[in-house]
Amino acid sequence: MKGRWALGPEVKRGALARGAMLYDASRVSNLTAEWFTPGYWQSLGKLEGSANGRGATYFLAADSKRYVLRHYRRGGLAAHLSADHYAFLGEDNTRPFAEWQLTYSLHRAGLPVPAPIAARYRRAAGVTYTGDLITERLATVGSLAGCLRTGALSILTWISIGRCIRRFHDLGVCHADLNANNILLSEEQVYLIDFDRSQLRGSGLWRDGNLVRLRRSLEKITWGLPSERFGEADWHGLLDGYRQSGGPVAELQPAES
Ligand SMILES: Nc1ncnc2c1ncn2[C@@H]1O[C@H](COP(=O)(O)OP(=O)(O)O)[C@@H](O)[C@H]1O
Ligand SMILES: [Mg+2]
Repeated sequence: MKGRWALGPEVKRGALARGAMLYDASRVSNLTAEWFTPGYWQSLGKLEGSANGRGATYFLAADSKRYVLRHYRRGGLAAHLSADHYAFLGEDNTRPFAEWQLTYSLHRAGLPVPAPIAARYRRAAGVTYTGDLITERLATVGSLAGCLRTGALSILTWISIGRCIRRFHDLGVCHADLNANNILLSEEQVYLIDFDRSQLRGSGLWRDGNLVRLRRSLEKITWGLPSERFGEADWHGLLDGYRQSGGPVAELQPAES
């Protein structure tokens, strides 16, 4: 595939009617366009549920594997104009292909992100397209937001969250929407998900911007909850973890093709 990132030999591109898909052939074979439609999984009795939110994230159980299927959708006011159509500016610039490539590179670099399984875009009338992404479903306790709604976290967990974010920042990954719903927790690991519109960037104030956004999200989510759910000590724990630098790390650079 012609692209901004060098992809592994196991990444295949398949042409589809009015579009294309990328998939990891070492994880899935026999992939068809139907994989990107929730109705297909429902008819097989393999649709396990959906995420609360924009209503476009589905949990699937296929061949003893668990996946997440997300249809790209806008939130907020823009959704009234066009809920799921985006301007087509070339295949590599489609949201699913861009998110696939960044997530795939991060997964290969050993960062705690879900393995991408497949991405597709489909051109619609005129100059727009719609998009979908399938990732591996992580076995987690829940999102940071969900965990805070049920109880307080230990200071060690806050430190781990800060350390996790720092690993991404050391690689130059600017998360476009770092909020408490996009941080998932398991007993052993902190994960970041949802790299839609995220980019590799050089040094700059964007790192602080990511942290400020997360802080705002934490305040919003814990507003009205018991005060032990989120306070200054927790935030300082997170910052302590963030500041415990692991030493210089090479930034992840898009490979020229
Ligand atoms: N790979 C995954 N493993 C487990 N849960 C996930 C995964 N991806 C998404 N989720 C759950 O679905 C929710 C919404 O997914 P996300 O990709 O952030 O889409 P959006 O923000 O567009 O609604 C997340 O907050 C999380 O709870
Ligand atoms: Mg999200």
